[in-house]
Amino acid sequence: MSIGNTADQWGLLSKTLHWLTALLIFIQIPLGFYAESLKLSALKMDVFIWHKSVGMLVFLLLILRLLWRIKSTIPEAFGISQIQRRLGQLAHGLLYGLMVLLPISGWITSSAANIPIKLFWLIPLPALVGPDEALKALAAEVHETCVLVLLVTLLVHIGAALRHHLLLRDDVLKRMWF
Ligand code: HEM
Ligand code: HEM
Repeated sequence: MSIGNTADQWGLLSKTLHWLTALLIFIQIPLGFYAESLKLSALKMDVFIWHKSVGMLVFLLLILRLLWRIKSTIPEAFGISQIQRRLGQLAHGLLYGLMVLLPISGWITSSAANIPIKLFWLIPLPALVGPDEALKALAAEVHETCVLVLLVTLLVHIGAALRHHLLLRDDVLKRMWF
């Protein structure tokens, strides 16, 4: 398997970035809900440090992925209609957009709440904005809305992948797998 993509296959780097990001997001969503549900305590702080650290890792992987995507070939979608191709592109664009908006809105929420971020208890992140209650509420609202849109988009995305594999029996899922 080559590192780079070809006209009909995703390469090792694209596959690794896709599945590593998927794994992190599947951990990240329950982690966020769990952190929110806890009463103010040392545990809540720790769970939030994990949430913010994993979220920023997703953001870092996304930057690498987009840089790699600009540089490399994108496998073509064979045997599907123009409208299906467009819908697929739309869903993928939305997923990329959410992977930018979620970390940035989370980062702004923390900064506006005047809570410093230290990734994995090691790497301090600068505050994006100064303390601001109204901005904190707005950014938290944006974060929450993005979570809802992400959940719906992921259902559609996973449903489409399974439809290709189980009903249409084509190579769409296989070529994203190792
Ligand atoms: C949090 C989880 C996930 C995210 C954020 C995500 C995101 C994405 C994005 C952005 C693409 C477009 C790649 C590109 O064109 O650059 C993609 C492709 C793909 N994803 Fe996911 N994905 C996730 C989970 C999954 C899961 C669980 C499955 C399978 C059940 C899956 C199956 C696929 C397949 C088959 C493709 C390739 C589509 C093609 O070749 O056109 N993804 N994913
Ligand atoms: C892929 C990235 C991320 C996902 C999927 C995600 C998901 C979630 C979820 C499910 C919640 C609980 C529901 C809610 O109130 O919105 C949440 C809350 C929260 N997340 Fe994230 N998050 C991500 C990245 C981040 C990052 C990078 C930060 C900070 C640097 C962050 C900070 C927060 C904060 C402060 C809250 C509580 C918001 C509030 O007070 O309502 N998140 N996140």
